[in-house]
Amino acid sequence: MYIYKAAVIGAGTMGAGIAQVITYSGLPVILRDMNQEAVDRGLATVRKIYQNRVDKGKMTESEMEQKMALVSGATDNSGFSDVDIVIEAIYEDIAVKQKLFQELESVCPEGCIFASNTSSLPISAIASATKKPDKVIGMHFFNPAPVMKLIEVIPGLGTSDETIDDVVLFSESLRKIPIRVQECAGFLVNRLLMPYLNEAAIALQEGAEPAKSIDAALVDFGMPMGPLTLFDMVGIDVSVKVSDILHDAYGPRATAAAILRELEKANRLGTKNGAGFYEYDDEKREDLQILIDKVENKGVEKSEFSANRLIMPMINEAVISLQEGVASAEDIDIAMMAGTGFPQDKGGPLHYADQIGVDVVLSELESLTKAHGERFWPAPMLKRMVLGGYLGEKAGKGFFHY
Ligand code: CAA
Ligand code: NAD
Repeated sequence: MYIYKAAVIGAGTMGAGIAQVITYSGLPVILRDMNQEAVDRGLATVRKIYQNRVDKGKMTESEMEQKMALVSGATDNSGFSDVDIVIEAIYEDIAVKQKLFQELESVCPEGCIFASNTSSLPISAIASATKKPDKVIGMHFFNPAPVMKLIEVIPGLGTSDETIDDVVLFSESLRKIPIRVQECAGFLVNRLLMPYLNEAAIALQEGAEPAKSIDAALVDFGMPMGPLTLFDMVGIDVSVKVSDILHDAYGPRATAAAILRELEKANRLGTKNGAGFYEYDDEKREDLQILIDKVENKGVEKSEFSANRLIMPMINEAVISLQEGVASAEDIDIAMMAGTGFPQDKGGPLHYADQIGVDVVLSELESLTKAHGERFWPAPMLKRMVLGGYLGEKAGKGFFHY
């Protein structure tokens, strides 16, 4: 099915970015939110993204206006009778999403695809509330949507092959890299990213290093931004929701750092409202150190910090995901580079493991387990690989062949 017209529901951080991506590819899109103020804010964000390009000489004013003419705001469902795909980017709440999809079914055409940009909610559960689960799919963009190349394509249990193919082709037409991922909590990238981000928050609350040093260590490693800065960009509220879903699925190793909940209680939600781990405006609010002091059972006293403390759990979760068949080793690496900016010269977490040695990864994880606890427990596949001589580049074989 060719997609001629799209709708995006939710004009917040992600929805506005997704609408810009769609108009940039030349397709008309309706951007719907709950009230006119939210719609106007979303449209202003789309314009701001284009205006940046104009300011940098990457497009002309008139080209910008042509693109802006493709996006129309809405607070209701008028105009939905001829949309071919709806992408939902509303609050991360399953009941709210289910209700929305039910409502959309009655106003959209028979063949319409219903895609969710959920970070971690089960697609099959969203689809179960609809009459056409074959048309429901996960289409997971990464923040900032106009920049990050990855789209995770996540079929639910009832999603048809035709819907999967249509969404893969549509994603390519948006000049993105679609990667098909097996449905599981956190899908692929958030499942690998959250242990990494969470460990930064644990190290901070334990007093291992101040926020800026933690971030600087990971930028030195080659990540495009520090983990605590990234938490602020994603949103503390979104991160807490995702963490809870991961904990529900994977148990103790995915327990969210307590400081995240303190930040959320103090309404420090990240860049979107002026403060998270860092402050982005001059408003008076509860200090980060006061919130850290409120955390009970902070963790290991006199804990030590290194970039490895964050990178190793990311590699470990990549190995567990590989074991479970969530995605291939190649796709895991491409997804982490395209979705999070994992350094290209290291080739993704699994190529990086091969570079430094699978045996080294195993022994690092064993040391981290002793020092910080069982959340670092090595994936069984790592032990099997080491015993079998799959040590990475130096042995000519590891996650890849050399
Ligand atoms: N919207 C649109 N464009 C943006 C943007 C935004 N919010 N932020 C930056 N850009 C553009 C800039 O305009 C610039 O464009 P040009 O190349 O055309 O000049 C380009 O991106 C680079 O920006 P900067 O030079 O300002 O800064 P940078 O090089 O440090 O890049 C970044 C910024 C792209 C955000 C980079 O730091 C990065 O890749 N960070 C990692 C982001 C990440 O991990 N995202 C995934 C989060 S997890 C998620 O999204 C899933 C979930 O479910 C929670
Ligand atoms: P946000 O809070 O910035 O925006 C959500 C928008 O949805 C708000 O403008 C809100 O008014 C609107 N909304 C809520 N219920 C609605 C309804 N019933 N109808 C119409 N509009 C409604 O949130 P966000 O960060 O853009 O996240 C949106 C979705 O994308 C979530 O599922 C989130 O998990 C996912 N996601 C977020 C990120 C991220 O980094 N923030 C990345 C990828 C995916």
